[in-house]
Amino acid sequence: MSAKAADHRVYFQSFSWYDTDPTLLIDREDEREQLYGPLKALVTAPPTARRGLSMVVVGGKGVGKSIVTLAVLRRLREEHSGQAAIVSVDCRAHRGWREVLAGVAEGLRDELIELQDVKIPVPPYAIDAASLLRDLAWLDEAKEERLHEFTATYTRKGALSAALELRKGLSVELGIDVTVKDTQRRAVSGGRLLDDGRVSNLLVALLTDLQRDGLRVVVFIDNLDELDHRYATASERGVVRQEVEGLLKLREAPIALLLNARTYFSGALGRVTDPPLVLKPLPPALLCDALTRRLRDEPEAVRAALNTPEAQEEVRWLSGVSETPLEFLCHVHRRAQAGTLRPDLRETGARQELESLFPNLTLDQLERVIRAFEGRPTQHRAALEDALGRDYLFLLAIDNQLILPVDFWRPEEFTLDARLFPLRALLVG
Ligand SMILES: Nc1ncnc2c1ncn2[C@@H]1O[C@H](COP(=O)(O)OP(=O)(O)O)[C@@H](O)[C@H]1O
Ligand SMILES: [Mg+2]
Repeated sequence: MSAKAADHRVYFQSFSWYDTDPTLLIDREDEREQLYGPLKALVTAPPTARRGLSMVVVGGKGVGKSIVTLAVLRRLREEHSGQAAIVSVDCRAHRGWREVLAGVAEGLRDELIELQDVKIPVPPYAIDAASLLRDLAWLDEAKEERLHEFTATYTRKGALSAALELRKGLSVELGIDVTVKDTQRRAVSGGRLLDDGRVSNLLVALLTDLQRDGLRVVVFIDNLDELDHRYATASERGVVRQEVEGLLKLREAPIALLLNARTYFSGALGRVTDPPLVLKPLPPALLCDALTRRLRDEPEAVRAALNTPEAQEEVRWLSGVSETPLEFLCHVHRRAQAGTLRPDLRETGARQELESLFPNLTLDQLERVIRAFEGRPTQHRAALEDALGRDYLFLLAIDNQLILPVDFWRPEEFTLDARLFPLRALLVG
């Protein structure tokens, strides 16, 4: 690092460019209302209303889907605490839909325990039933023995029989009778493994029971597109589609189901009845507001360092070449930390930053990928394969998510990852 850059290094205290704490949210009032209205209506509906709802938020990576959704759920919690169990699950933290369903069951259980702790009445079977489903969802190659073993543990406590739908479900899907209190094991024909959406069906059954018994449930599934990243071949995409469909079965439950997915993935959600809520990129002025909000929590010295004419000019430039808060905040943070947030260190700073963001690619390779777009926002697969080589750099760019399909389900056209926008601006002018 040059002496000059070292002189300007900024030491942040808590600034993070991926923090989705709702108190950091700028703007998006309309979008929040659009999500909040139907949720509030569902949570406050009379118990006889059996309808569920599902809403999808789509937009580019880093545009603010999670922070907006979390802000809405937080408000719901504040204004209607005790009226609903709110469960959030992130697909990024789970492998496959079975694990995500296990996450939903586990989140539900935790939430029910919390409600009970603050003396909100929950149906007597609810916590045991959620625990059972979590355990069943984890049983991958479910053996009959173990199914019975797990179920017997919860059955022995005796409360499950009041969960009418779940009871029916366990009997239909698994041949298990939860009204039998001993650990009797009946011979069950093979093939009754927990595949084919049986776990989803059981979860839907439990959620139906909870609704009937007066408990509202909101389930938020984040990063639906991150269930599985493989989209190169039709059969890989087929597998992902099955995963998604397994999860989307939850729409059959009388709950509020909230989903977040990147735009390129939304083709898989075609059967969701209402049109998705689309988050558009934020204009430069609002990106700068998002930065200002974060700086409010920093020491005065940090604010002063970013308040110099040089730093301000560079922040303005970055806000103009960025599209989403994620990459804008990331570039500002990293370059300030490296002491390169100044117009005279723009080129050095941009390159240094990309080298550390993509350690297994050379700058030369990054530039080749950028140039393969010839200044166009999207580029055809064939043109990219010609420019980068059918196998090596093209595949490396996909693996490192330097390029992203416009449509996950038909990966013929690609966009450049927004993290490369500043370097692109420098290269193409
Ligand atoms: N409207 C906004 N105001 C302030 N920060 C935002 C806003 N939108 C996004 N961000 C920030 O940008 C980053 C990415 O947001 P996130 O919600 O994770 O995006 P997504 O879920 O669409 O990928 C987070 O640090 C988030 O706090
Ligand atoms: Mg997100």
